[in-house]
Amino acid sequence: MTSRETLEEVNNYYEEAYLDYVLVWRTWSHGAMHFGYHDTDSRLRRWLRFGDAMHEVNRVLADEATVEEGDRVLDAGCGVGGSVNWLAENRDADAVGVNVSRNHLAKAEKKARRRGVADDVEWARMDFTDTGFQDEEFDAVWAVEAACHAEDTMEFVEEAYRLLEPGGHLVVSDGYLSQPMQEFGENHRRRLDEIDEAWVGGEVDTVDEFEGYLDDAGFTDVEFQNQYDRVKPSAVYLWLASYLAAPGAWVLEKLGVRNERQRRNRVAARHQYPVLRDDVVKHGLFTARKPE
Ligand SMILES: C[S@@+](CC[C@H](N)C(=O)[O-])C[C@H]1O[C@@H](n2cnc3c(N)ncnc32)[C@H](O)[C@@H]1O
Repeated sequence: MTSRETLEEVNNYYEEAYLDYVLVWRTWSHGAMHFGYHDTDSRLRRWLRFGDAMHEVNRVLADEATVEEGDRVLDAGCGVGGSVNWLAENRDADAVGVNVSRNHLAKAEKKARRRGVADDVEWARMDFTDTGFQDEEFDAVWAVEAACHAEDTMEFVEEAYRLLEPGGHLVVSDGYLSQPMQEFGENHRRRLDEIDEAWVGGEVDTVDEFEGYLDDAGFTDVEFQNQYDRVKPSAVYLWLASYLAAPGAWVLEKLGVRNERQRRNRVAARHQYPVLRDDVVKHGLFTARKPE
């Protein structure tokens, strides 16, 4: 179970950062708080169809988890509900969004009503490491850039395993270290620390460690797909935005209009692209199955 302090930290971060998500990421339009999977064939579409790249993450995960009509899917750390609403609209799934943030859930619910899927989705204010749902209640469990907040990754993985019916799929899209922290030089370690502090990262896992947790919990067919090429435009865009916004944001920070959490959020946005580019962090998709 996640500690009260961490849940408060997570909540405080998202409260303070939400305006940045709206202004920079246009979360109000697509409901996503994650990097997109961009079209790597067309340079133009890569940049112009930014919103499509957010939905493409949902399509890829839904296909990997073989989500079909009526499947019960848990979105662990559902943000403002973009994926849950997408699953109801596009796959006729019985989708459930879990979040610790009351505000995110309220926004998700409002959006579901506006999109006409309110009766097809469920929302619950719960810690994704300790949900209270029945054993084997779900056909799929998914988490997009949310499991990284878990204080103890194994707790997240074990809860997902408990909730899945035999044969059910786990899909997790997130960033993982390519090697243990101590292997990196000082510059990269400093960037990682600043990202972790700003974005309230929980246990920081390498790709191998996360894979080990899945194996230890009993999952089979464990695979990791590096998605760097597809998320790169999102990372570059966020990096550029952090530089372009810097002069104005700096003034607002000096005037006390933007606070310390918001300053750290801006600085983390500057660090995230270099650590992905230099292969310090791998952004990728884990897929796994609970045995039949
Ligand atoms: C970066 S956002 C991603 C949201 C969403 N998955 C998406 O892709 O748009 C991470 C979300 O995880 C939620 N979260 C963090 N820790 C959580 C926990 N222990 N239990 C449930 N939700 C959590 C946050 O409140 C936030 O909404």
